[in-house]
Amino acid sequence: MAFFKWDEAYSTNVQEFDNDHKKLIDLFNGVYKQVFECEDLEEERALTHQTLVELLEYVKYHFTAEEELMIKFNFPQYVEHKKEHEYYIQEVNKFLEQHNEGVVALSFPTFMFLKEWITKHIMVRDKSYGKFFNDSGIN
Ligand SMILES: [Fe+2]
Ligand SMILES: [Fe+2]
Repeated sequence: MAFFKWDEAYSTNVQEFDNDHKKLIDLFNGVYKQVFECEDLEEERALTHQTLVELLEYVKYHFTAEEELMIKFNFPQYVEHKKEHEYYIQEVNKFLEQHNEGVVALSFPTFMFLKEWITKHIMVRDKSYGKFFNDSGIN
């Protein structure tokens, strides 16, 4: 069973961003699978590093896309929303650094934290722009 499953309840009503969120969930599942299912340690380290970098790059790409649309349409909660994005990038970066240093093993609670944070962000912050963007002609 997948670690992280898309749910219709996550829909923001903005197709582009729903697709981004689905891709993010896929990337999460990729990292998770490599860390917990791979039996070769060396291979696991290399693959996890690669997927974490991909996850971070994708998170940045997606957050920037949301922020650009918010700026374009003067979304009222832009500042608060962007702050949450910055916090998350910092956390994923920390996760990557710890993995690079090999000091701290990637643990289940870390995955749960990253997963739960992004789920809450989508459910609360991202869903709050749906109607606003729809009213601006973005679906
Ligand atoms: Fe967001
Ligand atoms: Fe988002």
